[in-house]
Amino acid sequence: MGQCWIDNKTVIITGASAGIGKGVAEALIKKHNCKVIGIARSKEKTEKFVEELGDYAKNFSYKLFDVSSKENWFEFAEYLKENDIHPDVLINNAGILPKFNKTQNYSIEEIESVMNINFYSAVYSINALLPMLLESSTPAVINVASSAALMSLAGTSTYSASKGALKSFTESLREELRGKCYVTVICPGFTKTDIFRNQENTGKGEKMINAISTDCDRMVNMIVNGIENKKELMVFGFDAQFMKIFGRITPVTVGRLFSAVMKASKLPLFDNVFKD
Ligand SMILES: NC(=O)c1ccc[n+]([C@@H]2O[C@H](COP(=O)([O-])OP(=O)(O)OC[C@H]3O[C@@H](n4cnc5c(N)ncnc54)[C@H](OP(=O)(O)O)[C@@H]3O)[C@@H](O)[C@H]2O)c1
Repeated sequence: MGQCWIDNKTVIITGASAGIGKGVAEALIKKHNCKVIGIARSKEKTEKFVEELGDYAKNFSYKLFDVSSKENWFEFAEYLKENDIHPDVLINNAGILPKFNKTQNYSIEEIESVMNINFYSAVYSINALLPMLLESSTPAVINVASSAALMSLAGTSTYSASKGALKSFTESLREELRGKCYVTVICPGFTKTDIFRNQENTGKGEKMINAISTDCDRMVNMIVNGIENKKELMVFGFDAQFMKIFGRITPVTVGRLFSAVMKASKLPLFDNVFKD
């Protein structure tokens, strides 16, 4: 591969200890010789990643903190300044998927926590780091939303709201910084990672989700390819494409169709959504 704008850049990526974030971090190090600073909470998972990187670990460092706290981001910005680290690229990827549930069953605390991790974390990181990023000759802000930002299904109000907010926030930023900073939003569909760990998702449910999910390596390849080509909106995965097209053409009907299929499936995964 010839030269690419992201070669040798210093990249900050949240959620680097697992799943998509770990895969993207690894690809940017191995393919593009990036210096990656990963952010996550689990020392165990992050150390395991360092081990897996072997010789490439020299290009990876990490900070363990909760991305949903504003203070943590400003402390991190200070740390970068004190250590003369000049980031070029920020990838906001960390996120959680709460259990599928009826909207009125989510507690306010749960909704706030999801909004803080999935949405406000990006608001804080951009606020704290954008001035430093803009000193780079190739600044970039890359936010990982979800297909849930394209259409909101029964049982996903909280997750969809957090990802919809992130997508809208990013799209305004993209236009405001056009010509000064590459800004993009990524909407992956279901991807085979551990994000379903909190769901009642064994047996038939797991099979169904797996059947419509994209392999993590494949998703990572599509994302890295999109970043290399500076795509400004990325919708990846069969399910995400479906939601993009039909969510636009006939949003109400397709929402009803999804609900009917989810209900008829009688999967424990959706139990809380449809029981009276
Ligand atoms: N998998 C899918 O089907 C799918 C589909 C669409 C969009 N997405 C989005 O893609 C992103 C990555 O998801 P994934 O599937 O790779 O999930 P994952 O395997 O569960 O990984 C999530 C990552 O986020 C980190 N994280 C979570 N909460 C955090 C917090 N409060 N502070 C710091 N780090 C935190 C986790 O690290 P620690 O546990 O070490 O803190 C982990 O590294 C998420 O934003 C997700 O919403 C995923």
